[in-house]
This record gives sequence, C-alpha cells and structure tokens, in this order.
Amino acid sequence: MKTIIITGGAGFIGSHVVRRFVNKYPDYKIVNLDALTYAGNLENLKDVENANNYQFEHADITDAAKIKEVFARYQPVGVVHLAAESHVDRSISGPMAFVETNIIGTVNLLNAARETWNGEWEGKRFYHVSTDEVYGSLGETGFFYETTAYDPRSPYSASKASSDHLVRAYYHTYGLPVVISNCSNNYGPNHFPEKLIPLAIHRIQNNEEIPIYGKGENVRDWLYVEDHAAAIDAVFHKGGLGETYNIGGNNEWTNIDLIRLLCKIMDQKLGREEGTSEKLITFVKDRAGHDLRYAIDSTKLKTELGWEPSLTFEEGLPKTVDWYLANQDWLNHVTSGEYQNYFKQQYQER
Ligand code: NAD
Ligand code: TYD
Repeated sequence: MKTIIITGGAGFIGSHVVRRFVNKYPDYKIVNLDALTYAGNLENLKDVENANNYQFEHADITDAAKIKEVFARYQPVGVVHLAAESHVDRSISGPMAFVETNIIGTVNLLNAARETWNGEWEGKRFYHVSTDEVYGSLGETGFFYETTAYDPRSPYSASKASSDHLVRAYYHTYGLPVVISNCSNNYGPNHFPEKLIPLAIHRIQNNEEIPIYGKGENVRDWLYVEDHAAAIDAVFHKGGLGETYNIGGNNEWTNIDLIRLLCKIMDQKLGREEGTSEKLITFVKDRAGHDLRYAIDSTKLKTELGWEPSLTFEEGLPKTVDWYLANQDWLNHVTSGEYQNYFKQQYQER
C-alpha cells in the first residue's frame, strides 16, 4: 500500500480531497494530518472515518519535530499539502498565525519530505495546494496565467506566495519532486460559515443581515469544491514535476450579483416570496486592501491534463444550498462550536 499524507484534510477542501482519494484509491493508505484548528472539523469525514485505508493523525505542521516523527513513522511516498490558515479577514486582524502555519509549516513539511526521501525521488511527489490570490488583483479585464508575476496584497496571500516560492526553491535547489496548483474561490458543502457563500446562506436562513463589503463590486471566479478535488487528483497523478497549474471555474461574479442570485434561490427553497431575502443585504465598511478582481485562465490544466469543471454555477449553487438546508446539524455544530468536541468523542474517549 502506498501511503499518501494529506494535510488539512479536516478542512473544507481537504475533506473533499480525502474522501475522493479514500474512495477512489483503495490501494493508497490516506493519512489525514490535521491540527484541528477552528477550521478543522472531523464531522466532515464521518462517511470515510472507518475505511480501512484511512487514518487520522492529529499533528500541527508548525511543530517540526512532530512532523519529522510522523513522516518517519508512515514513510509516505506522496504529500498533498492543503493545511493552511485560509481566511483573508483573519489574516488582517492576526497575521502571525498565517506566517507560522502557511510559511513555517510548509517548510517543516518540505524538510520532513526531503529527509525521509533522502535523494530517492523516484515515485515520490510533494504537491502544494495554493491560491490564485498570490497573483494580486486584476483590473476589469485580463486573467491570471501560470506565468503572471506574484503580487500578493493581504497577509494571507503574501504567506501563500511565500510558501509557493519555498516549494519551488526546494525543487530547484534540492531536486525535491514538487508540483503546485493555484485555484480560484471554492464553494460547496462543508465550507466554514465565515466565508461569503456559507455565511450568507446561514444568515438568510435566520433572517439576519447579509454583510457586503464596500459596494459589492469585487469579482471572484467560483469553482465547485468537488471540481477542485478532481483537479487536485489530476495534478497529483499526471502533473509535471516542477510545474504549476492554474485551476478556475471560468465563472466570474460580482459579490452583489452572486448574493442576489443566492437570495433568489433561498426564497424559492424556503418558500418565501421573491425579493424577501434581498432585503437583508447590508453594505458595510470595505475590507482593507480588498482585491478587486480574480480571474483564472486554466487552459494549461485543461489541455495538458484533460480536466474540465463538471458543474455550472447555476447547478452548483442550488446544490450547495440544498446541502446546507439538509445538514442543519453540521451547521449548528459549527456555529455553536460543538464540532470541536467531536474529536474527543470519536478518538480520545474510545
Ligand atoms: P480551511 O480553513 O477550511 O481548512 C484548513 C485546514 O487546515 C483545517 O482542517 C485546519 O485544522 C488545518 N490546519 C490549519 N493550521 C494547521 C496547522 N498548523 N497544522 C495542521 N493543520 C492545520 O481551508 P480550505 O478553504 O479548505 O483551504 C485549503 C487549502 O486550499 C489552503 O491551502 C488554501 O490556501 C487553499 N485554497 C483555498 C481556496 C478556497 O476558496 N477556500 C481557494 C484556493 C486555494
Ligand atoms: P471570502 O469568502 O472571504 O473569500 P476571499 O476573500 O478569499 O475571496 O470573500 C469573497 C468575497 O466576498 C470577497 O470579495 C470579500 C467579500 N465578502 C463580503 O462582502 N462580505 C463578507 O461577509 C465576507 C466574508 C466576504
């Protein structure tokens, strides 16, 4: 059995990647390495937690000694690295956690992989999952390409850019077999309700104001999370070493148009008169340094690795709303903090 360590597997995107790999690759032993910060929720993985090829490892990537010990114990041949502090607003109020996890944590993983593989690179792969936010902010036109110069503007994107540079440096300097992808905004089930879409779904349901930063004119390119997981699968297995792949939905929305569409969908699903939820929209103070627009060109991924998104936004958004409405327990546990007891019940009280 090949052992693959997936970091951040209890988070939003990581849980979809873990589920996909556990179900699709019974010959892989999938080790989900996660510190279970506020964003880590093992309830996301209830359906695979008893699978024979799944193992949870409670570890913090900022702890170099622990990470080395974990690598020595499991002898992984692959790493899919998603663990990160991921919320821009939190990076503005507290940048140090982003420096520690996103930069130092990534270097700890690179060092552990380098030490474990010790120059025997054949069949090994370190895959670093990153964001399109490293490229900065676009004007009204244009796209981010793999060759676009980095220009991060928030502590979050600067810490991710830094980690991308370090991953590339380990490839050029030591020959570590790496691959990187940079993806646009994800949406879908299990998204922590501090991010725009799940926050709005939750607030609309409770008839609470929906906070829109500035005038709501900022543009994001949204991709369904399972399509990102499929892209990660393709890049992990078929991507070229030292290469970068941009992943995007070709699906640009201003925040205000997106929220209006969401309000319409929610009115239908909740049996409210059309226009009811829109009244909850409230314009609030803008985010500091708010990037205007992100848009990804994913031609390289599509032409070289044959990936295509499977869902349009018009399909994915109602599907996401359905998931939240059908998973009230998940949402209640996350908003009440109850989910943090799950680890104790599931793993420590056994
Ligand atoms: P998330 O915040 O939902 O989950 C992050 C996970 O990492 C959590 O399970 C958390 O417990 C874990 N973690 C955090 N610090 C850790 C540490 N020090 N040690 C071990 N585990 C730790 O994040 P997400 O939205 O799923 O993003 C996953 C990755 O994808 C990140 O690297 C992010 O930069 C990248 N990304 C996210 C998006 C997006 O739209 N969410 C888009 C592109 C790229
Ligand atoms: P977010 O989900 O935080 O993702 P990111 O900042 O990584 O793109 O935010 C998406 C967009 O929505 C971004 O332009 C900021 C905006 N936003 C709001 O207008 N109100 C909110 O309450 C939040 C969380 C985000």
